[in-house]
Amino acid sequence: MWMNAEATGAETKNVLVSGGTGFVGKALVRKLITSGKRVTLLSRDEERARRTFNYKIEAVRFEATGKEEPERAVIRAVSECDAVINLAGEPISDRRWTLPRRARILQSRVNGTRQLVRAIQRADKKPRVLISTSAVGYYGTSETITFDEDTHPAGNDFLAAVAIAWEAAAQDAGVRTVINRFGIVLGPDGGALSKMLPLFNLFVGGPIGSGNQWISWIHLADLTELIMRELDSDNFSGVYNATAPHPVRFGAFCDALAKALRRPNWLPVPSLALQLILGEAAELVLKGQRVLPKRLLENGFKFQFEDVQPALEDIVASWKSPARQG
Ligand SMILES: NC(=O)c1ccc[n+]([C@@H]2O[C@H](COP(=O)([O-])OP(=O)(O)OC[C@H]3O[C@@H](n4cnc5c(N)ncnc54)[C@H](OP(=O)(O)O)[C@@H]3O)[C@@H](O)[C@H]2O)c1
Repeated sequence: MWMNAEATGAETKNVLVSGGTGFVGKALVRKLITSGKRVTLLSRDEERARRTFNYKIEAVRFEATGKEEPERAVIRAVSECDAVINLAGEPISDRRWTLPRRARILQSRVNGTRQLVRAIQRADKKPRVLISTSAVGYYGTSETITFDEDTHPAGNDFLAAVAIAWEAAAQDAGVRTVINRFGIVLGPDGGALSKMLPLFNLFVGGPIGSGNQWISWIHLADLTELIMRELDSDNFSGVYNATAPHPVRFGAFCDALAKALRRPNWLPVPSLALQLILGEAAELVLKGQRVLPKRLLENGFKFQFEDVQPALEDIVASWKSPARQG
């Protein structure tokens, strides 16, 4: 049985993060730095990574190759840390899923995760925990089914296949392993909302497709808080749906966003237009899934944002804040 790190006083001091320069990673790394952790990033561009955090972190070069053996520098970085957080992956929603992009979406996650697991296996001194990422796409899509961690089997579309392979790659590190299936992460400076906020603010946003598709979302502040807890509390182990307790249909989500921005919720964006622009990536916004964080609630995790309206009010307030604009 895992000992509780909080109870034994074995607090995490050195944290290694892959994909720490992205939307979630930036917020998480800032929180880690503020709480006094020493952070090392694994990045495809170490200098850019150091610059992003005003040289308050270390960085080591990391490519998600299919090579058997991880680079020595990566094994050394793993040996020197107490915890590994794995966030890296080729962006999913930006462009069309051409065949080469599908390969990059899959391989950047699976190869990168395998390299990290191998580095942990090879390390002289092992970290206490690996916190790896997956997505609610694991479950496939449905307008009628509610999914939790007990739902079997997984979905059978491309994103489900990516999530299954990504999770499988994180097994066998030989240390406590946590896998977070992220819902759509909501924050002011990136992710899905950063594309919607300017459109809604200019009165041209509206529900995409029928509006009946489910959005299982999580506020960025809750997600980073969750990962901080998982670092130090050995009560967390295995797979968690990292989603707020109250998912919403997309139409209701758009109403809440329009209300938060004090704007009308305008005409629906037709699905055909979206499919022409995004190809299969349009699935991300046209289809969804209703996912509940059953294991987080059982574990006593307290969400700061359980409902979408206060979550969006909070994000819109910081999106509009003069400090951010300036
Ligand atoms: N945001 C969401 O709503 C959401 C939802 C579900 C799951 N997720 C997953 O959560 C993770 C973090 O999300 P995010 O929104 O922060 O992602 P992001 O902003 O796209 O950042 C991901 C990071 O991964 C690294 N990366 C990008 N392309 C790569 C490639 N081809 N090979 C290796 N590394 C690559 C980059 O770091 P370097 O440039 O420093 O190498 C980048 O900063 C991702 O894996 C994403 O799939 C996110």
